[in-house]
Amino acid sequence: MRQAILDLPGSKIREVANAGLGRNDVLAFWFGESDEVTPEPVRQAAADSLLRGETFYSHNLGLPELRQAIAQYATGLHGEVQVDRVAVTSSGVTALMLAMQLLVGAGDEVVVVVPVWPNLTAQPAILGATVRRVALRPKDGAWGLDLDELRAAVTPRTRVLLVNAPNNPTGWTMTEAEQRALLNHCRSTGTWIVADEVYERVFFGDSPAAPSFLDIATPQDRLIVAHSFSKSFLMTGWRLGWLVLPEGGLDAAGKLLEFNSSCAPVFVQRGALAALAIADESVPALISRLQAGRDRLLTGLQRLPGVTVAVPPGGMYAFFRVEGQDDSLALARRLVAEQGLGLAPGAAFGPEGEGWLRWCFASKDLSRLDAGLERLADALR
Ligand SMILES: Cc1ncc(COP(=O)(O)O)c(C=O)c1O
Repeated sequence: MRQAILDLPGSKIREVANAGLGRNDVLAFWFGESDEVTPEPVRQAAADSLLRGETFYSHNLGLPELRQAIAQYATGLHGEVQVDRVAVTSSGVTALMLAMQLLVGAGDEVVVVVPVWPNLTAQPAILGATVRRVALRPKDGAWGLDLDELRAAVTPRTRVLLVNAPNNPTGWTMTEAEQRALLNHCRSTGTWIVADEVYERVFFGDSPAAPSFLDIATPQDRLIVAHSFSKSFLMTGWRLGWLVLPEGGLDAAGKLLEFNSSCAPVFVQRGALAALAIADESVPALISRLQAGRDRLLTGLQRLPGVTVAVPPGGMYAFFRVEGQDDSLALARRLVAEQGLGLAPGAAFGPEGEGWLRWCFASKDLSRLDAGLERLADALR
């Protein structure tokens, strides 16, 4: 086996979750998904497709009608996105891996804003690239970017700048001014931006989506944006995502898709078409339920003595720390063992997250959050 693979760290979230295996009394908030099932019209569309016998290979880039619907959806949020920039992928994580495969090879430098979902730093490492981490910093629990530090890290040697905002785990959301500054900087260094915007709709500001690089970039910019049906359409188990590529990038993406998954399942794509058809109602309704969960959890956490946490502007996580508790893995393990409370240790997102815990608030049933808060309060007493 390649050393780069052997060197990859195992998931610390799984480590904690495995400690709770076989127990049905654990309140689990460790994974990044809602407790709600995919809406019925979406499941029905996929079932109908299967019953019609749509069980064959399809186009590498996705069904033309789904690509068209995605282009229309993206255009509604960000201004014109042409269909010849859209490729359908089998999940958001695959979209990100394809973006990396398109851009980086052994020895290339990739700068990543951290802490972040660990898959983002593992993917370039798998391809033999060098990963340079630039840390967000917490102030009173709210994480922010030192723009000058990031600009200093991105040089003409940097092949890719990888940014995830709204950010998993911190909830950090970029401002348009930060995006403009980075886009201009990357234009000057010739660096590609890979933007992981899978949480763009999980945004609690005044607009229907968080600021996106698509709002400010031209179709000619070196920008690839990765998206997913998982979070805002309640479709985690379906494994479907998409890429927005620069003009002229589609043929290369199609070739690469052939050698990865060849194509996404047609019945899954039919479900996605149905999801986009109801998005105008379903997404805002989901976001207001998520906001209720966020507010309930944050109010509860802020009441607990010794807890530092800020209200996240985006994403579906509260990222918090407890005074005097610096070993997040030990604390997360103790919370499972003693309280049946399942949280993700901050160290799972890199050393920058050490001492913090991540709590996914995507719970339709608010009383689950209340019960979790009681268990945490017990543990801290
Ligand atoms: C930051 C981030 N990017 C991408 C993904 C990928 O989502 P999926 O592979 O389910 O589409 C996730 C999932 O948790 C995520 O947190």
